[in-house]
Amino acid sequence: MGASPAYYIDGSDRVKPMNQPKQIAQLSISRATFGETARIERFDVPFESGQSVLDALRWIRAHQDPTLAIRYACTSANTCKECMLQVDGKTVYACTARLEPRAMHIAPLPNKRLVRDLVTEIAPPDERMPTMR
Ligand code: FES
Repeated sequence: MGASPAYYIDGSDRVKPMNQPKQIAQLSISRATFGETARIERFDVPFESGQSVLDALRWIRAHQDPTLAIRYACTSANTCKECMLQVDGKTVYACTARLEPRAMHIAPLPNKRLVRDLVTEIAPPDERMPTMR
């Protein structure tokens, strides 16, 4: 009589055999509101091949900290351009940047006005609400 296989649910809610190693992406995220000095907060996210950085940020909001401010609309079509941020100092679209099982530093765009955490003011001035101009 053999042992029954054990399973676990990974970060994407898929069932995985227990004998597969669990890899972790260690995200250090810059957080602040406009006018504040940014602080770095670290989140460990279960890694699965094929995940995007946006997948990891959404996982953090769902499982660890719902107050993390992120912005996205199309979630991987790379058409809305709402999810731009920096990963390890490079500007990327969070929905197309691949998550990796290593330490990654996530920050808002440095050349745009910060709204909160990873959200910056990216709308052209003539398209903003009057209080944001
Ligand atoms: S969420 Fe639309 S381009 Fe990334």
